[in-house]
Amino acid sequence: MQPDQQFLRIPGPTPVPPSVQRAMNQPMIGHRDQETKDLLHRIKPKLKPVFGTEQDVLIIAGSGTAGLETAVVNAVHPGDEVLVIVTGAFGDRFVQICNEHQIETHRFDIEWGEAVKPELIADYLRQHTGIKAVFATFCETSTGVLNPVKELADVIHKQSDTLFIVDGVSAIGGADVKMDDWGIDILITGSQKAMMLPPGLTFAVVSERAWQVIETNDRPSFYFNLTKYRKQLENDATPFTPAVSLLFGLKQVLALFEEEGLDTVFARHERMKNMTRAAFRALNIPLLTTDQAASPTVTAVRPDDFDPDALRNELKKEFNMTVAGGQQHLKGHIFRIGHMGYCSPADILQVIGIIEVALNKIGKTVKLGTGVGAAQEMMLSGGI
Ligand SMILES: Cc1ncc(COP(=O)(O)O)c(C=O)c1O
Repeated sequence: MQPDQQFLRIPGPTPVPPSVQRAMNQPMIGHRDQETKDLLHRIKPKLKPVFGTEQDVLIIAGSGTAGLETAVVNAVHPGDEVLVIVTGAFGDRFVQICNEHQIETHRFDIEWGEAVKPELIADYLRQHTGIKAVFATFCETSTGVLNPVKELADVIHKQSDTLFIVDGVSAIGGADVKMDDWGIDILITGSQKAMMLPPGLTFAVVSERAWQVIETNDRPSFYFNLTKYRKQLENDATPFTPAVSLLFGLKQVLALFEEEGLDTVFARHERMKNMTRAAFRALNIPLLTTDQAASPTVTAVRPDDFDPDALRNELKKEFNMTVAGGQQHLKGHIFRIGHMGYCSPADILQVIGIIEVALNKIGKTVKLGTGVGAAQEMMLSGGI
């Protein structure tokens, strides 16, 4: 293993592009100076297409979970009933946050590895008419499922005036989203996944409909008060000291998105997903999800004849390559490969090639090149 070389293939944090790293090295500036206002002024319009919105994207210093809690405390009045769709560990987190805030929470569990079927939610809402907000996870990082949020928004809005709140933490920047057209009321993401930044920022976008609810919510949250962030951003400012270095980086991330083109960015993620899936299929190693439910940003693999943690340990020890394990009851049963953000088809060939070597080292004999070959063929065929 070469010192100082690492291959980070977890579903976040993800590698940071060198130009973003350099941008973040700029000397500090005054957070109330004109330079910071200029920075926010430039960032503001360029963030909107990433979320598919005309609304301002609010930037809060904190991790993704801070964004989830922000959505809950701002959009849900004390005593309200909500429905949380749980397709894995991060749906479960929404439940925990709601419970912490004494919200009456209905939990709708879906088998881990599957996507929710929107008609089930339509039925549930028909039977429970008091629900004020539905929470869902766009990409369920713990299983590699991309939930059908567009279709969910359709059935939810047909049914009621319930708000639809989406955790997009491991999807935004890697999967196409049209927040306004689809009818998402609050969309949250974090900086350290497909947004190609280090951890430390969370982003929140709010629909006009959701603002009406938020503005009548007198639940006090001093720091996570979205109304304060909106008011300040109108003047290119933030209510509290922003993570200035991450904003320098964000400006460069948005320049990279612009240069590549968002459609190309999303197509690259699709291609990486398809290459990864083709590789494991060729190796005869089962995938956790169906093609239809699979996320473009992370793939979960569920081996049936070797220990995924033995593979992960070998990858780490021999190559300093990190892939993620399973969470909760999938711990020890799956491994997950992140392919989002600063990651390309070339990286997929590398990770598959290294995994083939590591598999043979832990005693799972595979013919070298089988997975790489399938991924290469997928790449050659366009991968979509
Ligand atoms: C879908 C999803 N939601 C929320 C989070 C929580 O984000 P953080 O760890 O930044 O608080 C994660 C982190 O992996 C995630 O993948």
